[in-house]
Amino acid sequence: MIILRSIAETRKALDEWRRQGRSIALVPTMGYLHEGHLSLVDEAKKHADRVVVSIYVNPTQFGPNEDLDKYPRDFAHDEACCQARGVDAVFYPDNAVMYCPDHSCWVTEESLSQTMCGAARPGHFRGVTTVVLKLFNITQCNVAVFGRKDAQQALIIQRMVRDLNVPVSIIVAPLVRAPDGLAMSSRNKYLSSDERQRALSISAGLKQAAALFAGGERQAAALCELVSAGITKAGGNIDYVVVMDRDTLRPLTTIDRPAVLAVAAFFGKPRLIDNVFLD
Ligand code: PAJ
Repeated sequence: MIILRSIAETRKALDEWRRQGRSIALVPTMGYLHEGHLSLVDEAKKHADRVVVSIYVNPTQFGPNEDLDKYPRDFAHDEACCQARGVDAVFYPDNAVMYCPDHSCWVTEESLSQTMCGAARPGHFRGVTTVVLKLFNITQCNVAVFGRKDAQQALIIQRMVRDLNVPVSIIVAPLVRAPDGLAMSSRNKYLSSDERQRALSISAGLKQAAALFAGGERQAAALCELVSAGITKAGGNIDYVVVMDRDTLRPLTTIDRPAVLAVAAFFGKPRLIDNVFLD
């Protein structure tokens, strides 16, 4: 496994693979890797000959009052995880490599990013789309794998690739949960054991709501109320609980098409997100 720190050495190594006729899959991450990230590596291997994981805590997707400085980092751990999982290369740039001091070009998606996390975190998705397009251009990957844990992010990346004719196939892989049901996230590290216990109300509520939906409930409000009540009772601070059309991310009243029931809530400082698909 090679560690690539600069754009020049990344281009050189990946060009060599391309010359050998190898296809390349990219798994973009912000590090502090867990089983959710590593499931994307497994998925990537099914779609390409070489797998590159990028590890970069992208400052432009954090708001001024968010947890950029506190975001967990442990490169030695990440390197060992990638090595064990059979990753071919890790792209691990620093800010000077990724952003020129006078960087002034941005990629903005103007529809899907207006709602949910986009409404709660202004500028967040502009940072995400910009850094992801940069990573695509740096690696010139054939395929890139994203997790359904960040369902809105995956949808926005798919829209960017479609609208800007980016020659990268986007794969969206399933959400990975801890055995107790909590959606895996690097931010879970900052939950106290009590907060973590109470945060299980998110996944438990989503599971109950999905069962209610499977039993025939089609009113979005009934599902949202069920989930919200559980989180509030557990002392969580709700950012949103919504049922959205899964293609447009417009709110649904009656669930008469593929939908996503999505949650963002704070338990203590960490902001957690989770979702289930309703088909
Ligand atoms: P990060 O939060 O590190 O997540 C990297 C990738 O792992 C994303 O595609 C995310 O959806 C996926 N992922 C995280 N937890 C998961 C889980 N429990 N199950 C399945 N997939 C999971 O998302 C980002 O970083 C950044 O916004 C990034 C795309 C790297 C741009 O900076």
